[in-house]
Formats: sequence, C-alpha cells, structure tokens
Amino acid sequence: MTVHIGAEPGQIAETVLMPGDPLRAEWAANTFLDDPVCVNRVRGMLGFTGTWKGNRVTIHGSGMGMPSLSIYANELIRDYGAKTLIRIGSCGAMQEHVGIRDVIVAMTASSLSTPSRGIFRELNFAPCADYGLLNAAVEAAKGTGATCHVGGIYSSDVFYDERPDLTEMMTRHGILGVEMEAAELYNLAARHGVRALAVLTVSDHLLTQEALPSEDRQSSFGDMVQIALEAAFS
Ligand code: ADE
Repeated sequence: MTVHIGAEPGQIAETVLMPGDPLRAEWAANTFLDDPVCVNRVRGMLGFTGTWKGNRVTIHGSGMGMPSLSIYANELIRDYGAKTLIRIGSCGAMQEHVGIRDVIVAMTASSLSTPSRGIFRELNFAPCADYGLLNAAVEAAKGTGATCHVGGIYSSDVFYDERPDLTEMMTRHGILGVEMEAAELYNLAARHGVRALAVLTVSDHLLTQEALPSEDRQSSFGDMVQIALEAAFS
C-alpha cells in the first residue's frame, strides 16, 4: 500500500489506463476487462485490474489536474512498477479544423506550470509522448471511425480560464486542444523511463462554444478505451 493507493503489491498491472473520473474507470473496467477486481478505493479514487485479450491491465482514476494525476502516477510507477501509462480523457478544441467528438493524440503537452516546474526550474523541458504508443494509437483510431488529430496540446492549471490572450496565442501556435493532466504525465514518464500517452476526445470547443451532448459522452469515452488498449498491446 502507498499513501493514496490501497492495492497490495502485485495487484497493479504494468499497463495502466488513467481516466480523470474514477467512475469512468469503473465503467471501463466493467465494460472492457475480463474479471475486473477493484484494487483501490482510497478517497474514492477507484482502480481496477483485469485482463484484456489475455493481457493484464489496470484502469485507475487520476483525478482532475496535474497535482492529482502526479500523486497517482508517481505511486503507480515508483511503488507498483507501472511501465505504460495512457491518459484517456476529454479536452477543449482550440483549432477550427478540430471538431466535437474528434480524437486528439497528444504528441507534446505545453504548460504554464506543472508539479515538475520546481524540479526543472530554468529549464523549459519539452514533455512528449512515447512515439511507439502514439503511432499505435493513430493506427487503432482508424478502426473506430473517429477523426483523429496528432499534435501539441496545452495542459492548463485551471478549467475556468481568465486569459483569452493565452488561448489566442496557443491557437496561433497550432495547439490542438486544452486539458489539465498530460504535461505532468509526460514529465513523470521521462523522469522514470516509462512510456506515456494521452488520448483525448474533444468535449467542447473554445472557438465555437459547442459542447458534446451528454448522451454522446459514453460512446466517445468507449472509443478512447479501445484505442488505448489496442495501442498498449500492439
Ligand atoms: N477538459 C475538457 N475541456 C476542457 C477545457 N475547456 N479546459 C480545460 N480542460 C478541459
């Protein structure tokens, strides 16, 4: 057990999918995994381990924002030996050509600050995805019928942003979408020599103000779980 994860040693798989919402972790485990077992419920941050096509997988909530993800990803990597971590979540689109329901596979994740900022200090480290996972996710996305974009995203510290000038600058620099976790996941993966990727569905659009209808959220989320599982074991 760690401070935030109640799993016994050996109960976490080397491959971990990380949705922000713990209830989404439960839904994904019950929908996609064989013999899912709940391995964590500390603070309600649910985690489940089962198998997919014979491969052991853990699906564990990250919570919202980089400080929360950082706690769980650190413990999963350092204490439980996780080697492949894939964030599955939603994002807001920042380009005209990116639509609601589209999938974004995040090649890089820019940020203003991350929990690792205190470590990097003057260094502008460039957090990036594992190329093998990224390539496999792009291939897997073709099978879902979703329109898939590959490029840079922005990991924000706030959902309710008060800096339209920053959004405009990132749009101008080709950033595809905004979410709140990937940059720290990529930093931690680099630090510990493991593989990481973020696969995101566009749930809202910062330029058009459109939003994904709630009845479509489950199926979009299911597509991401499928893409992440196929990428992890390709
Ligand atoms: N996740 C989904 N939509 C988002 C947005 N607009 N900003 C930050 N995180 C998000």
